Amino acid sequence: VVVVADPLPETVLGPLLGHDVRFCDGSDPSALKEALGDAHALLVRSSTQVDRSVLAEAPYLRIIARAGVGLDNIDVEAATQAGVLVANAPRSNVLSVAEMTVGSMITGLRNLLPANAALRSGRWDRGRYQGRELSRSTVGLVGLGHVGTLVAQLLRPFAVRLLVHDPFVSVHHAASVGAQLVDLDELLAQSDVVSVHVPRTPQTKGLIGERELRLAKPSLLLVNTARGGIVDEGALNAALKEKSIGGAVIDVFEIEPAIGNPLIDHASVLATPHLGAGTREAQERAGREAVTAVLQALAGHPVPTAVNPPASHP
Ligand code: 3PG
Repeated sequence: VVVVADPLPETVLGPLLGHDVRFCDGSDPSALKEALGDAHALLVRSSTQVDRSVLAEAPYLRIIARAGVGLDNIDVEAATQAGVLVANAPRSNVLSVAEMTVGSMITGLRNLLPANAALRSGRWDRGRYQGRELSRSTVGLVGLGHVGTLVAQLLRPFAVRLLVHDPFVSVHHAASVGAQLVDLDELLAQSDVVSVHVPRTPQTKGLIGERELRLAKPSLLLVNTARGGIVDEGALNAALKEKSIGGAVIDVFEIEPAIGNPLIDHASVLATPHLGAGTREAQERAGREAVTAVLQALAGHPVPTAVNPPASHP
């Protein structure tokens, strides 16, 4: 029994033929628990929260396959203790997220969305929406993993001055993408654009808060296509309100769906509903990789994309 709890492209489910594939709305915890009663595998994206209480209702579960990268919606430690493999698709949507990040930098710097809204409401206001060039600006990347590295590479033709903060990478790796490694305070103080590319973990939650935002230039464009909560939402809301930073691109929120989140209402914010991986190509890659992991686990084969070594298999 394979439970699909988040929307996946139909095209990727073909190889599951012969298994009992069931669909449920993973954002509803009771529907999820009910569906998992006799399930051997669970396929999710980021809307399904898999915590200890969910695992307790899934006695036959062998694998949770995440059709995407982030694992903050899955209690990996609890899964390990329950003997359940967790696998993700670590590179599947990197290109889509990186492309959207660079595109949204330009969209934000050029005020394209407010200008579009003004034009739709009948105002031809060329002077009001003067923007800034990305080229030759200083861009700070918080995190130089798969996405951060690709963003750095895509920024090459813009000849930006690239700063990186990442305690886990070497000076050599930073230099290989033309970046200088600096501490977070220096990155915030010097950058025209700051883009966040770290996972949400207890260590990164609130990484950019009130103190950090106070270090930024008043013209800063802050981009977050990584995870909500890494930039403290209350502090960001205050900074936008008092215009101590220039604006923000926000694709991810601490609580999603983020309906009613006050960040969305700022004129200087380009807000989108967690669309970084929202391309046909990324969804097909992620879905295919996750389905492959399910088939490997159900066949008792090694799962190369597993992120945990479960203590025991039921
Ligand atoms: C990820 O972590 O892979 C991205 O944020 C995409 O999440 P999604 O699969 O829910 O779109």
